[in-house]
Amino acid sequence: MSTYILGIESSCDDTSAAVFKDEVILSNRIANQDVHKSYGGVVPELASRAHQQNIIPVVDQALKDAGVDAKDINAVAFTRGPGLMGSLLVGTSFAKGFALANNIPLVEVNHLHAHVLAHFIKEPNEDTEHPEFPFLCLLVSGGNSQIVLVKSYTEMEVVGQTIDDAAGEAFDKCAKVMDLPYPGGPLIDKLAKEGNPDAFQFAKPRIKGYDYSFSGLKTSFLYFLRDQLKFNPDFIEENKRDLCASLQKTIVDILLDKLEKAAKDLKVNQIALAGGVSANSGLREGLVSLAQKRKWKTFIPKFAYTTDNAAMIAITGYFKFQEGQYANHEDAPFSRVVF
Ligand code: KG4
Repeated sequence: MSTYILGIESSCDDTSAAVFKDEVILSNRIANQDVHKSYGGVVPELASRAHQQNIIPVVDQALKDAGVDAKDINAVAFTRGPGLMGSLLVGTSFAKGFALANNIPLVEVNHLHAHVLAHFIKEPNEDTEHPEFPFLCLLVSGGNSQIVLVKSYTEMEVVGQTIDDAAGEAFDKCAKVMDLPYPGGPLIDKLAKEGNPDAFQFAKPRIKGYDYSFSGLKTSFLYFLRDQLKFNPDFIEENKRDLCASLQKTIVDILLDKLEKAAKDLKVNQIALAGGVSANSGLREGLVSLAQKRKWKTFIPKFAYTTDNAAMIAITGYFKFQEGQYANHEDAPFSRVVF
């Protein structure tokens, strides 16, 4: 008999609901929040209020798209954390209410695990290849930069992570220095395509093991621009494309150097990307060429599953449901990283 899962995601500024029939996606609705644009970042209180307004229509639409009735759902999976507390509370409370009203189990999902397991989402009538265990996943987003050794659907080990800023934060903060709108990552990616990646050199960190650090790069980028602007007030405007291309190359090199080292030492040759920064074209191209050199098999998620979405929550919930890993109604959300 098939299992129908409803997934709910509300960890930051996207309200999302998805319906799955076993491992197959039937629907995935996302309501973005434009309210933050004028603030240059997500305003937590505004995010929770928007989730509150969006959650019911989004779930309703996801059920309709899937052609599934609320009473057909076998379990509801929700993001328990990490994320913004007010935002998480909206999704968590909704999921608990839905589970109680329909007398079905509740499954809590770690948002970071879900980014990794997005690789197992099956499209209807599509035979997509999925990674085999164990594989390494480079999880890069606005809040995290980690190399994860994935041993099974429920067993994951973080082998390296950032000791300060995340890669997405480095993109966004450097974009801000250039007066680009938030989030700057996608715009840097776009401008980088027309620039010279070797035009400028920025310092790379020397960190032991497989850990990352991006705060030094942000500072050196800031100081470099400050020095140049003293001589030429139009320096940024005149060199924007080259600056973006050089910065992107530096970030991608930092990410791939450690990934290559980890894969070699751990003798893993299946490599996956996950998280919002995995949409970056430089990172995707860099991974593909490294994979050719190292004879890796790589897995790059569909664009729709790189950013925050409930489809990844539903698939993770499905695997936990299969193992009988249910949540308690007393479980509160967690805002900090617990892998
Ligand atoms: O996983 P995600 O959607 O959510 C959070 O971590 O909250 O990641 C968002 C991050 C932002 O920092 C954004 O600038 C970055 O992903 N990002 C990109 C690109 N698309 C999104 N960074 C570089 N290039 C992109 N194409």
